[in-house]
Amino acid sequence: MNEQHLKNRILKMSLEDKILELTQFIERMLSLEESQVVTGVSNWGEPSYSQLWRLGSILNSNNAESVIAIRKTRREKGIEEPIIVMHDVIHGYRTIYPIPLAMSCSFNTDLIENCAEMAGNEAKYDGIDVTFSPMVDLVRDARWGRVMESAGEDPYLCGEVGKAFIRGYHNADIACCVKHFAAYGAAEAGREYNTTDISEHNLKEYYLRGYQACMDEKPKMVMSSFNALNGIPVLGNKKIMVDTLRTEWGFDGVLISDYCSVAEMISHGYCEDKKAGAKVAIDGKLDIEMCSPCYIEGLPGLVAEGKVKEEQIDEAVLRVLKLKNKLGLYENPDRYTNVTKRDEVTLNPEYRALARKAAEESCVLLKNNSVLPLNKNSKIALIGPFSDDKDIIGNWAARGKKEDAITIKEGVEALLGRQVLCASGCSANIDEEDISDVSSAIEEAKKAEIIIACIGEHQSHSGEAHSRANLSLSKAQKTLLCELKKLLKPIVLVVFGGRPLTLMEEEKLADAILYAWQPGTEGGNAIARLLYGESNPCGKTTMSFPRVVGQCPIYYNSYSTGRPYTESNTRWVSHYDDIPNEPLYPFGYGLSYTTFSYSDLRLSGTVMERDKKLRASVLVKNTGTKDGKEVVQWYIRDLFGSCVRPLKELKGFEKIYLKAGEEKTVTFEIDEKKLAFYTASGEFKAECGKFVLFVGGNSVDCLEANFELKD
Ligand code: NOJ
Repeated sequence: MNEQHLKNRILKMSLEDKILELTQFIERMLSLEESQVVTGVSNWGEPSYSQLWRLGSILNSNNAESVIAIRKTRREKGIEEPIIVMHDVIHGYRTIYPIPLAMSCSFNTDLIENCAEMAGNEAKYDGIDVTFSPMVDLVRDARWGRVMESAGEDPYLCGEVGKAFIRGYHNADIACCVKHFAAYGAAEAGREYNTTDISEHNLKEYYLRGYQACMDEKPKMVMSSFNALNGIPVLGNKKIMVDTLRTEWGFDGVLISDYCSVAEMISHGYCEDKKAGAKVAIDGKLDIEMCSPCYIEGLPGLVAEGKVKEEQIDEAVLRVLKLKNKLGLYENPDRYTNVTKRDEVTLNPEYRALARKAAEESCVLLKNNSVLPLNKNSKIALIGPFSDDKDIIGNWAARGKKEDAITIKEGVEALLGRQVLCASGCSANIDEEDISDVSSAIEEAKKAEIIIACIGEHQSHSGEAHSRANLSLSKAQKTLLCELKKLLKPIVLVVFGGRPLTLMEEEKLADAILYAWQPGTEGGNAIARLLYGESNPCGKTTMSFPRVVGQCPIYYNSYSTGRPYTESNTRWVSHYDDIPNEPLYPFGYGLSYTTFSYSDLRLSGTVMERDKKLRASVLVKNTGTKDGKEVVQWYIRDLFGSCVRPLKELKGFEKIYLKAGEEKTVTFEIDEKKLAFYTASGEFKAECGKFVLFVGGNSVDCLEANFELKD
């Protein structure tokens, strides 16, 4: 259908029909019986029963069967417009992959793309047209529960991971939605939905870059965020919504609000009522309002009073119809929805194998005193709340079922072909302090040679609306670990979490730490393979691990100060009196069962002219006895600028596989764009001067080379 056809459709619509195209509510409200309609979905009011059936899109469908029934009923009711089904497919649909933060630690964008594609396949046959993913909010504060959905603290990586997700969904032919625009991840004090205050420079340098990078992959939708940004709720922030997103970046797809956030401008103290919210939103070129009724209630009056032009509404409706057209809903309103196909693809072995691989590459080995990999003959005991727990798939698991998940015990026993000692000892819940089972767990541990302590935070403590002011293990788990330590046996920690937890004390008593995040459906198999060396750990953390909560926000790509802390200058300088400035584990860090050496860093020149390039190369060697993968990380520092520049910025990475003893020259190209930043005059450009290139297997231990940019 061409644009004129779509415009003709709009011409035939009543104003109410148009507004309903711009309103989204949840699928379970679409009951065939009016008396059974679910209410209370929005505190701000809901559409009437007849309006519900005419909505342009619905949120979070139940399954293919219900989507088919809804579409059929709409046809029977004479509704010509096809409906778009949108769903939160965040890290898998029924087969659940590791949480996005974990997947980012794989630094494997092809793998992430594959996972998104498989998730898209499972979802599309179950009736989903659009997924509300990827989330590319930059995060620096592990207190915020939604760090689990992000790709961590680096803007370049956030963009690369976001792009991989988009490519994957597009390969599966479902549309996706980049969220949450903008800077939601900077919630003050890590408290969910909290206000954000970010200078324009900081926004451009860090917070906006992930979303902007995603525009390269032409996502069909963007979702606005809940936060107020610099004193104005994002939806009212025209500079961001219109000038940046629509005008500067040229985004002409569908912009949707987050759940109730149009109405929430009233709670923010920015809009007096729903009508005012509708005006702000439509003036900000918001197309679809999710789950609040400001458009329904406010737009008719605003149009009648001439405060909103009907053309503004038409413009938004056209964007929605264009999306339907791109999805092919006019030719085939059911698209891929198909129960047989859905059942065929759901949890198929290929997807499970991919989920296992993704989990293997996402886990990060933080410490190893040579106790890992385990010998298959050693007698081990799995102790702790996660030793045989299926609640490891992650907080936002779409249609994932915990019954499908493999626990560590199941994974280890399948790999060894025998049973192992196992006891939970206590709960992972932060508010449960019951330690009555600790003594029986200790009795089990006594029978083993090596203790595998499976601990962490329960998945219900991360994700939306799950901020934490403390990032430590529950008291009960701390007690359990202290008791285990008294047995004087080697202890391996397998830690689960939707965020980096503070492990300063646990690090001291552990011989090894494998950070498993929330590894998804195949978590137990993946962890078993890693523990026994069937697979070699290769994940690198994408968030700095704070030692204590007081270090938050903490990130590697910070600015220097006028009084930096150095070994020779420790007094009147920027530091804490009680802990080091550095995190427990820095960005990009992760061990392997082999070792890699970096040498022979070369630059094709020490001076780069604008429009020319420099070529860097480094020799990476697997110096250990096992084959393994290494993430080669390239960073740059601009030593002086018209604005202060980060201490290091990730500019590129490559994941390479090296057999034991093998070496490879890895290359990297530096061009002007890689040196550009938002200068004091607001231009995005590189300034002449001195730069340092770093390369290494994490953000701290790097080789360095100097070069200069000259006109
Ligand atoms: C609220 C969340 O912030 C957003 O990420 C999600 O997509 C919507 N709800 C829809 O469920």
